[in-house]
Amino acid sequence: MEATIVSDNVKHYPVLLKEIISVITPQHGGTFIDCTLGNGGYTNEILKYKNTKIIGIDRDTKTEIIVRKIQKNFPDRFLFKNIKFSKLNNLKLKKENIKGVIFDLGYSTTQIKDPEKGLSFNSMGELNMKMGLNDFSADDVVNSLDARDLEKIFKFYGDENDAKIISKNIARERTLHKIDTPKLVKIIEKSKRRRNHKIHCATKTFQALRIFVNKEISELIYGLINSVKILKKEGILAVVTFHSLEDKIVKYFFKNLSENKSISRYEPKLDQKDIYFEMPLKKPILPTREEVQNNPPSRSAKLRYLIKKKDVYQIETDIIEKFKNLLEIENLSSKL
Ligand SMILES: C[S@@+](CC[C@H](N)C(=O)[O-])C[C@H]1O[C@@H](n2cnc3c(N)ncnc32)[C@H](O)[C@@H]1O
Repeated sequence: MEATIVSDNVKHYPVLLKEIISVITPQHGGTFIDCTLGNGGYTNEILKYKNTKIIGIDRDTKTEIIVRKIQKNFPDRFLFKNIKFSKLNNLKLKKENIKGVIFDLGYSTTQIKDPEKGLSFNSMGELNMKMGLNDFSADDVVNSLDARDLEKIFKFYGDENDAKIISKNIARERTLHKIDTPKLVKIIEKSKRRRNHKIHCATKTFQALRIFVNKEISELIYGLINSVKILKKEGILAVVTFHSLEDKIVKYFFKNLSENKSISRYEPKLDQKDIYFEMPLKKPILPTREEVQNNPPSRSAKLRYLIKKKDVYQIETDIIEKFKNLLEIENLSSKL
C-alpha cells in the first residue's frame, strides 16, 4: 500500500511510463483516452508520437493549468473533459476508433501536496479528501456517520484490523469537539493495538476514507465496463493500480472477460460465453528497481492490460454482482 507522506520537494514522475508506452504502442498512431490526466505525464509522452490524438479526462478542475499547456502545444490533437471516468459513456465515443484506454488510479503528487485537499495525514486543517466533482467530504463522513458505519468503511475499504476501536474513539471524541486531520491522526495513533513500522498507522484509515469520499469502487467498476465497450478491435485497456483492493477488481474483471471458466464439469457447454478479450500476461508488470529507487511511491504500482479481439459493444460481465458488498458500502453516504 502506498504511504501517503510526500515531501514538498517531490517531483512528479509518471509511474511505469516506459511500460505503458510499450503496451499501447503509440508509434502506430491512433486515438487514446487518458482517463486520469493528472499532470499529463502519459498524455505528453503519447503526443510526442505523430498521428496520435488524446482525449484526456480528470475529475479535478485544478488540472486546468496542465490542460492549457497541452492544448497550446497540441491544439488539434488534444481534447479535455472534466468528468469522472465512470461517465465515459456520456462522451458518445461508440463510433470513434479508440485504440487505447489508460487508467493510472489514485491521486497525483500535486494533489497530495495540496493542503486544501487534505489527502495526506500531514495536512493541518479540516478533513476534505475530495478529488473533484464530489457530493461530500471526509469531514462530513468522520463527523456525522455513526460508529458502525465508519467501522465498515475502515474495515472493507482499508482492511484496517482496528476499525472497530478507531470508529468508537472517533464517535466518543467528536462529542467533545469537531475532528480535523491532526485530531484524526491522534485518535488512530491512540487506538492502534499493534504498530507496523513499515507504514504510518493512519495509512489504512486514510485510504478507506479517500475511497469512500471519492466513490472509487463504483468509479473503477463503471470506468472499466464503459472503457471495454468503446475500444475497437485490437484496442488495449491498460490499468495501473496502487493498492490491493483496486488490483483485485481489475484482475477479476480482466480474467472474467478473457477466460471461459466452466462452472459445471458435467455440462461444460451450457455456461460457455463468447470471449472477446485476451490477457497476454497473467501477472502484472511491476516497476523496475531503478524506478522504485528514483520514485519510492511507485513501489506499489501494478500494470495490467487487456486486448480486445472483436468489435462488439455489449459486453457481458458479472463484476457488479461480484463486488456487490463493496459497492453497497457507498450507499452509506445517503445518511449524510
Ligand atoms: C495518479 S494521477 C495520474 C497521473 C498521470 N498519469 C500523469 O502521468 O501525470 C490520477 C489522476 O486521476 C484523477 N482521477 C482519479 N479518479 C478519477 C475519476 N474517477 N475520474 C476522473 N479522474 C480521476 C485524479 O484527479 C488525478 O489527477
